[in-house]
Amino acid sequence: MAGSPDFDLYRTSEEHDMLRETVRALAEAKIAPYAAEVDEQARFPREALDALVAADLQAVHVPEAFGGAGADALATVIVIEEVARVCASSSLIPAVNKLGSLPVILSGSEDLKKKYLAPLAKGEAMFSYCLSEPDAGSDAAGMKTRAVRDGDYWVLNGVKRWITNAGESEYYTVMAVTDPEKRSKGISAFVVEKSDEGVSFGAPEKKLGIKGSPTREVYLDNVRIPADRMIGAEGTGFATAMKTLDHTRITIAAQALGIAQGALDYAKGYVQERKQFGKPIGDFQGVQFMLADMAMKLEAARQLTYAAAAKSERVDADLTFFGAAAKCYASDAAMEITLDAIQLLGGYGYTRDYPVERMMRDAKITQLYEGTNQIQRIVMARNLPK
Ligand code: CAA
Repeated sequence: MAGSPDFDLYRTSEEHDMLRETVRALAEAKIAPYAAEVDEQARFPREALDALVAADLQAVHVPEAFGGAGADALATVIVIEEVARVCASSSLIPAVNKLGSLPVILSGSEDLKKKYLAPLAKGEAMFSYCLSEPDAGSDAAGMKTRAVRDGDYWVLNGVKRWITNAGESEYYTVMAVTDPEKRSKGISAFVVEKSDEGVSFGAPEKKLGIKGSPTREVYLDNVRIPADRMIGAEGTGFATAMKTLDHTRITIAAQALGIAQGALDYAKGYVQERKQFGKPIGDFQGVQFMLADMAMKLEAARQLTYAAAAKSERVDADLTFFGAAAKCYASDAAMEITLDAIQLLGGYGYTRDYPVERMMRDAKITQLYEGTNQIQRIVMARNLPK
């Protein structure tokens, strides 16, 4: 494979490596110091948002034509990865900004793009993504939220659940049923604004991890929005939602990589410091084998994720498989690696005085959201590589 065009695209360029250095320095200086506190207090990582916005890193994926940095899919992965390495909650800022806005980028009119992407690129607004509902999680097409046409307006009613950064975001891509007879083909996508009359939010969920990223219900109570807020044509909302996930499941893989890298880095340092039986525990082969396995799994997950990012950039025919595979594999790897990091720290790893238990709790969500890993296997099985 070496030398083939595909192989070259899996590798990071000098620009990508420089971006990683920049984000790592920023994350260590301005985001890491608050990570434990943000988790402990379950509060939004305002310092991280400010630091990301000051460095124009909150939504690097926005195309240059709309005032953004126009970063490619791999660069976006690197930003998310490096932020997640120190604080998974904070990495949901760039990740969900991409998830929420990608339907507009993929399918929206020029006017919608101009109106909603510029504030996102400037850091004036964040974007969330509203697909799931209380009774429609894995079966996303089973949603009940309704949008009914009324002259030049659509009127939305329903409840969206598990909405990341709800309440913090100004803009929401909302999938709603416009024709109940047609199941997935009767779903349309809309941009809803936080300030639209009839929009309100539930209490923040009390979660195991990613505690700094608010997860709330979004209530739509007779929300009347202009018809030109529909993203793409009527009935195309479900396909847009799925196409979006093909690209953004890779950003969840990136988050998993970052969390796992943070745990591995911490454990590597710890085993050099911690002495038992008269020497650092890192001198024992059993410990070295664990670190070797952790690094091997992480690197395999990284290669798959970067390959998927190259496919996302090119919108290759096998993107659906690769997006699901990267998310599934990297999240499973992150779970194993963070658990092993706790094992290496022993009793200390089980306490909140050390960061690895937070990393393990944060890793768990990557196996669940943007489709459980069981759903990823359904997606992969339906789209096996030729
Ligand atoms: N690209 C384009 N179109 C697609 C598509 C894709 N990848 N996948 C499906 N479609 C379209 C097709 O047009 C298809 O119609 P055809 O029959 O004409 O091909 C139509 O959608 C329906 O597709 P399916 O028959 O495959 O639909 P399904 O009901 O069987 O569901 C599913 C498929 C994969 C299970 C899907 O429901 C799914 O992905 N479920 C998981 C939902 C999910 O990931 N939720 C995440 C919420 S967001 C989140 O978690 C964010 C966060 O907090 C950070």
